[in-house]
Amino acid sequence: MLEISVSLLSVEKENAVPALFYNLETAKVNYFHIDVMDGKFVEKNTAEFMKQNALTISHITNVGLDVHLMVENVEEFIEEYIPLKPQIITFHHEAVSEKTRMMKLIQDMKENGIQVGIAINPETPIDEVKELLPYIHQVLVMTVVPGKGGQKLIPETLEKIKELKQYLIKNNLEDIQIEADGGINETTIQKAKEAGCDRVVAGSYITNAENFAEAVKKLKGEKE
Ligand code: DX5
Ligand code: ZN
Repeated sequence: MLEISVSLLSVEKENAVPALFYNLETAKVNYFHIDVMDGKFVEKNTAEFMKQNALTISHITNVGLDVHLMVENVEEFIEEYIPLKPQIITFHHEAVSEKTRMMKLIQDMKENGIQVGIAINPETPIDEVKELLPYIHQVLVMTVVPGKGGQKLIPETLEKIKELKQYLIKNNLEDIQIEADGGINETTIQKAKEAGCDRVVAGSYITNAENFAEAVKKLKGEKE
């Protein structure tokens, strides 16, 4: 079953209160997607806001944290999030070019019982992550340019998901999850699913909806 990880990036600060997180949990999202931006890797800085959200969520619900680090200093943010016991932390391949540094990050996360995700931007080919696949749990394929919510899915990224899925099958690496992130709505989710995704991130489609449960049901293709 395709999982839904709800991004909080499009939520206004004043609306980011426990009631909102409860409503999203009742709407049966599978994860809370925490978009951490440092104002360097991408223009926006959401670090404080997202830390606050993750803390509140970790205190009031058991729904897993799917942390997406769009940051340069990956080590600093991993240290900051370990105490919140996230299910997954994903950082960008584009932020960590050096192999030994990459392997050390992966090791640290595994020692803390956190699943390891590597994110690739729309222009990054899957060849860049192939050698890391045996060591990680998830590839987050950016289906928009990272930095903000409410963008349109870039169709070419679906080809990358297909290519990655075929590579995983061919190399007996099918337990590695593929997550599409950005521009997911009731139309694009079908394309992401057909391309081979296990999980999608949906932000504005859910958090801008009148009724969160209905929006999630539509995404999951369930009858209303
Ligand atoms: C963009 C973030 C995405 C974004 C998704 O940099 O990584 O998670 O918030 O938001 P929507 O679903 O509105 O495109
Ligand atoms: Zn994200």
